Amino acid sequence: MLHRVQQTARYLGAAGADDRHANETARILRELGADHEIVVAGLLHDRAKPANTLLWHRVAGVVLARFAPRVRAQLARGDSTFARYLDHARRGAQLAKAEGASDRVVRLIARHHDLPVADDEVLLAVADREALP
Ligand SMILES: [Fe+2]
Ligand SMILES: [Fe+2]
Repeated sequence: MLHRVQQTARYLGAAGADDRHANETARILRELGADHEIVVAGLLHDRAKPANTLLWHRVAGVVLARFAPRVRAQLARGDSTFARYLDHARRGAQLAKAEGASDRVVRLIARHHDLPVADDEVLLAVADREALP
């Protein structure tokens, strides 16, 4: 199953940098002793991030989340690159759910830009940060 998910992630993450980020996140998670579901979430967490995401999208996303979450939510609706970037955690979770991923994997993907609460969310956040960009 993991092999299949990896293949899917590789196929969909054809934009090189994001592919590298997904694999690096998963590698770090394995190194940290994360279980299989967290590693799968690591591989898939950014899959819905648009390939043409720009640095300012990321910066604006962080600033809006911190200071204007309601504006952020409004901007996340729509189909522009910025909207799809802002919404990529939810969209990625939806994709994983449609493909039959477990509720836990779906939750990890959905929440990966929220403040981590559960231990598995903290692990994913650490690996995600270390695997940047
Ligand atoms: Fe992300
Ligand atoms: Fe990420």
